[in-house]
Amino acid sequence: AQKIIIDTDPGQDDAVAILLALASPEIEVLGLVAVAGNVPLALTELNTRKICELAGRPDLPVHAGCAAPLERKLVTAEHVHGKTGLDGIELPEPAMQLRPGHGVDFIIDTLRREPAGTVTLVPIGPLTNIAEAFRRAPDIVARVGRIVLMGGAYFEVGNITPTAEFNIYVDPEAARIVFRSGAPLVVLPLDATHEALTGRDWVEAMRALPNRCGPAVASWTDFFERYDREKYGSQGAPLHDPCAIAWILRPELFEGREINVEIETQGEFTTGMTVADWWRVSDRPANALFIRHLDRDGLFALISERIARLP
Ligand code: BDR
Ligand code: CA
Repeated sequence: AQKIIIDTDPGQDDAVAILLALASPEIEVLGLVAVAGNVPLALTELNTRKICELAGRPDLPVHAGCAAPLERKLVTAEHVHGKTGLDGIELPEPAMQLRPGHGVDFIIDTLRREPAGTVTLVPIGPLTNIAEAFRRAPDIVARVGRIVLMGGAYFEVGNITPTAEFNIYVDPEAARIVFRSGAPLVVLPLDATHEALTGRDWVEAMRALPNRCGPAVASWTDFFERYDREKYGSQGAPLHDPCAIAWILRPELFEGREINVEIETQGEFTTGMTVADWWRVSDRPANALFIRHLDRDGLFALISERIARLP
């Protein structure tokens, strides 16, 4: 199985991503690290534990990572995810404990322990923890198999500013470190994830599953959908973060290009923008597989088939 570390800020779509990974035998989750993002760290680490328990995996190591971006004040997204970050369904206080040790150390130690090239990092929140790990332990960069992240936007422009996507915008300095690290990168930007809109029938099918995870997914997406409906007038909630896990499972559902992507950190109006050289007009070398489109029906069929396997 493909070994992964999930770096996350749940987040309803993070929650679905985590469930998708835990339901998939092709993936072995070595651990989860929480980061400050959608809501502050105290909530994202709590939510991560709640999700693991819901999935029947209280055995998994969950670590708390960085509480703030490298150089900036934290920007959160309660307007999208609600006060808890995981509004939509009330989950019990988790019995599983946070593991001792900083999440950044967990990332460093795991990459040093596992054979080089065998671990995939899956950041689905701001890139603070990954950048901090690379900064503290540059030797681990060459040991990373691949980074598959949700973040950025190019043709779809931004969702937190006119030009920036939330995960990159929250910690652009961290994003720059990761995009320039030389580690193989797969990027799932809004260009792709805005095609991953839930449909009514799909949500109702989730709700009707005879387990507890299906109805939880339905409640989360119902809550998540409200924002997009009011803001964009769109039908359905975009399942951004599950796309990163789905790419690992079924890369043929996605299409993109190997291109250069730089992170704007100084722009007056464009800080946090992923400057994607889609037409290869610069001579900067490619550093990322930048995904532009996905097979929506294939993606949702995959997610429902997997969620049905959970408790
Ligand atoms: C990203 O921002 C967060 O709000 C979501 O969880 C996702 O990771 C989408 O821009
Ligand atoms: Ca997220």
